[in-house]
Amino acid sequence: MTLAPVPPLGVSQTAINVLSALLEARTGQQIGAYRSWRVDTALKPLLRARKLDTLDQLVTQLLQGSDRSIGDTIVDALVNQETSFFRDAQVFQTLAEVVAEAESDRRRARIWCAGCSTGQEPLSLAMQFAERKEATGAPIPEIIATDVSDAAIARGRSGRFSQFEIQRGLPVRRMVQWFDTTGSDWVAKPDLLAMVAFRRMNLVADQPPPGQFDVVLCRNVLLYLSAETKNEVFPKIAAALKPDGVFVMGAGETVIGQTRLFEPSKRFRGCYEPLGKGLSR
Ligand SMILES: C[S@@+](CC[C@H](N)C(=O)[O-])C[C@H]1O[C@@H](n2cnc3c(N)ncnc32)[C@H](O)[C@@H]1O
Repeated sequence: MTLAPVPPLGVSQTAINVLSALLEARTGQQIGAYRSWRVDTALKPLLRARKLDTLDQLVTQLLQGSDRSIGDTIVDALVNQETSFFRDAQVFQTLAEVVAEAESDRRRARIWCAGCSTGQEPLSLAMQFAERKEATGAPIPEIIATDVSDAAIARGRSGRFSQFEIQRGLPVRRMVQWFDTTGSDWVAKPDLLAMVAFRRMNLVADQPPPGQFDVVLCRNVLLYLSAETKNEVFPKIAAALKPDGVFVMGAGETVIGQTRLFEPSKRFRGCYEPLGKGLSR
């Protein structure tokens, strides 16, 4: 059961209800009773930028509908975009094995990063497999990276990261090899950016990218979806995977008790595979 979000002190229940409903309608993400403080904190910069004092004033502007971009900006601010380079590093070692097995019939592997945030996850994959190419000549997999947030996708495409962001997960060797400095920021070199195709895609409302994938990463995205919404998303992921493909969730996530479309992989620790080739639920 999901408890209704309770407003933090000084914030009206109406504002919280409207903003939670907007976020859920656009992304499937639920705020939940224990994260309503996040609404207030996450929207403070937007209030300042719009010279507003309260969330109720922001909601009034939203409901007036005169500025179409306001809803997008609110959703971008509310959605959790936490990410870092080589997040949960063990996963990347496992993916090297998954990709090597997928390539055993001499074809290039395909990876879909669903909910890629600002690009650190797909760019980590690109670096890892580009370095493997330098060492062994093995091909770089095709990497498609999608996210519901236009702003996150634009940032991923720009490949621009602050000093704080670049240091999270990247050793100096990789920073220097794959990025140029611009002022205090770091910008991915064109060769690296060219290895990732960034696209906006809503996992709930849109169809997955065409073709079938050897790997689908959807890490730390499904956490705040309701059970019903997850039941709409899991079949899309199953359909996008090759029958022997591998599905990767975040470190604290599992499919167990959530769907019967996947089962824990016997080949790759911490990964999932389509159960019965994803045909039954
Ligand atoms: C916490 S970040 C995870 C980023 C990355 N996968 C990682 O683990 O580091 C979650 C991302 O999922 C995206 N997201 C949330 N709901 C989504 C949806 N319905 N469709 C696509 N992306 C969504 C958010 O915009 C956000 O960038």
